[in-house]
Amino acid sequence: MQGKETVLDDYSFLVSQTDKKGVITFANDDFCKIAEYTAEELTGKPHNIIRHPDMPKIAFKGLWDTIEKDEIWTGYVKNQTKSKGFYWVYATVYPLIDRNGDIAYMSCRRKAHRDEIESYGLLYEKLLKDERTNV
Ligand SMILES: Cc1cc2nc3c(=O)[nH]c(=O)nc-3n(C[C@H](O)[C@H](O)[C@H](O)COP(=O)(O)O)c2cc1C
Repeated sequence: MQGKETVLDDYSFLVSQTDKKGVITFANDDFCKIAEYTAEELTGKPHNIIRHPDMPKIAFKGLWDTIEKDEIWTGYVKNQTKSKGFYWVYATVYPLIDRNGDIAYMSCRRKAHRDEIESYGLLYEKLLKDERTNV
């Protein structure tokens, strides 16, 4: 059963920052509002707190392999809200050095449009099916 979809408006800009292990250190207001968490609930939690089960593992492997090489990753992500609904974003994730001199990662996200959601939804469905049959 699919949960309820939250469709972002054209002005939404969702930002989060993590440490080098993917633990959330910052989430902006748009991120909290759409994900349905407070900043306090998110800070200190692993970023997979909003992982949606429809996302294939390989998408996140690509993300981590890219940012750990000090490169920028862009891609489409379906996330889960606190009430088990979902929302799609187009994300740009990149490495930076935080104020303590440690490696950190930032993700900036905008709305994914309907045609993008349809294509990536189908692609991820296929990848997920492949992952399930290959275990
Ligand atoms: C800056 C940053 C932002 C991330 N944003 C998301 C996100 O919005 N949704 C998500 O499911 N994973 C996100 N991830 C990836 C998670 O760290 C994690 O790899 C992913 O949720 C898969 O979870 P798993 O490793 O437990 O399978 C992000 C990672 C980083 C470094």
